[in-house]
Amino acid sequence: MTVAHRDGLALHFDCHGTTETLTLLNRHRFQASFPQVVAANGNAHDAADSPIWRRMNEFSHHGRTLPRSRFRVYRAIDLPVGEMQTGKHLPARSRESPADEYLEQAFIEKGLLLSRLIMVSNRVTLPAGVAAAGGLAVAISDVLRERSGVWFGWSGKISNRRSASPSVTTEAGVTYATVDLSEADHLAYYSSYANGTLWPLLHYRLGLIAFDHLAFDGYLKVNRNMAARLAALLQPDDVIWIHDYHLIPLGAALRDLGVSNPIGFFLHTPFPVAEVFCSLPRHEILLQAFGAYDLIGVQTPTDARSLASSMERVAVTPPGFGRRNRILPLPIGIDTANFAELARQGVRSADTSRLKSSLAGRDLIIGADRLDYSKALPNRFAAIAVLLTDWPETRSSFTYLQITPPSRSEVPEYQRLRRELESAAGRVNGKFAECDWTPIRYVNRTTPRSKLAGYLRIARVGLITPFRDGMNLVAKEFVAAQDPADPGVLVLSKFAGAAYEMNSALLVNPYDTHEIALAVRNALKMPLLERRKRWELMMDALQRNTVATWRDAFLRALTEAARPAISQPEPRVA
Ligand code: G6P
Repeated sequence: MTVAHRDGLALHFDCHGTTETLTLLNRHRFQASFPQVVAANGNAHDAADSPIWRRMNEFSHHGRTLPRSRFRVYRAIDLPVGEMQTGKHLPARSRESPADEYLEQAFIEKGLLLSRLIMVSNRVTLPAGVAAAGGLAVAISDVLRERSGVWFGWSGKISNRRSASPSVTTEAGVTYATVDLSEADHLAYYSSYANGTLWPLLHYRLGLIAFDHLAFDGYLKVNRNMAARLAALLQPDDVIWIHDYHLIPLGAALRDLGVSNPIGFFLHTPFPVAEVFCSLPRHEILLQAFGAYDLIGVQTPTDARSLASSMERVAVTPPGFGRRNRILPLPIGIDTANFAELARQGVRSADTSRLKSSLAGRDLIIGADRLDYSKALPNRFAAIAVLLTDWPETRSSFTYLQITPPSRSEVPEYQRLRRELESAAGRVNGKFAECDWTPIRYVNRTTPRSKLAGYLRIARVGLITPFRDGMNLVAKEFVAAQDPADPGVLVLSKFAGAAYEMNSALLVNPYDTHEIALAVRNALKMPLLERRKRWELMMDALQRNTVATWRDAFLRALTEAARPAISQPEPRVA
């Protein structure tokens, strides 16, 4: 027997067992995770010079066709190194139970140290590229910065040249594998179906849905094509984590190609109640596709209940391979400490100083959202008009900076919204501006995160009032950016996923412009003590649930769900 150890984790490899668990091990991760291996005779080896390492090499040279490996893997947690040399200190259960279970337990303890993580999302931010708008791309970059792996998805380019394999580039331990979309595929999959049908549906905007059978077929086809290209890159020990509504059918398409790796899915948007979701033509196909995943993560318990009840309406087939199909609410976090530091530095930058001096001592109210109808920007502008009308003493006392990068501009609804917002900002400014002051500064450009962090820190009020939002990471970033000695106040929509954790914000109904105006007025007047109290509670939540805890919780739950069921099936929603 050989024992490999690292920190409190030990894996016992019994060379006489006959299980295939070694197929799950990635040699390079093994070496990185377990620098030292102790053999049964007590001799310590460097990992690369140990019997287990040699066997792994032999195994890997034979690729997938090698007969099952002859290793049995046990687990011992927190045993002193001396005691790890024999199996006798292991709990009796671990000596008898299937090796897979214990290897899997070891994975859970160490956040799947031994497997390669494959992140899949529609948009991929290439190392040299411009950061994509929206919280999802930022979150995936944060996850991969700390944990290397592969990021697979659309390159963001439209090209009619067909290429069977993705473009691959590797930097800082992350492999970026991207595919282009043809013009027709982009139109059907991205513009028409994902953003013209699914996005409004998931945000409860039934009136905006355009359903087209050809677009839906195009969406399914692009998912199948992506699956074929991704499958060619996969190794047996990979763990696959797919993100967002563009790729709901990707897991099922991978299963159709015989992929049996653990596959998890995370929905970054809200999920509407079954009555709304099931009004979508051919919704059964999407609900069945959810069945292919071992784990589906959503932002809130409400989303989890809605998805489960929609899936109950269709007889959804579980992922197979004896595994579970679980739904878990796992709210996404941010890299709290890092963003707070970015804000601390940002506040000293020339850009932030320029903004500060342009305010001439007035309070700053700030909003930062993609140009999207789910963000309820016209209502925010209207609420500012209500504030200035009903509380005239607030005139000239603040500047509201709304940063809104354009988004999905090929979708007609977004073009209409852009025109509407330009005239709404003009109307409010025309009515209330003075020769030395305008209430709204509407910036229709992307602002780098480092700049935004500084702006958020000097703001007295963060105004974030979407009609619906999966999470809204800007709300969390606003809190993380604040100066603990003199924090600003968050005015937040109660229909943003962030409201679950940021419940010490001033929560408002985004449809009620009077309620928003009143909350802004209260925020502007709030005494320091109350501001601090509210901020501390929210910051506490942000420190407890970061993007790293979110990642670890998801991967732990995915591993657990992907373990072949040995006991009673669990309820779908946990
Ligand atoms: C939202 C979605 C993301 C998307 C982002 C930007 O946050 O949940 O999946 O990437 O918006 O939208 P875009 O269409 O530009 O990718």
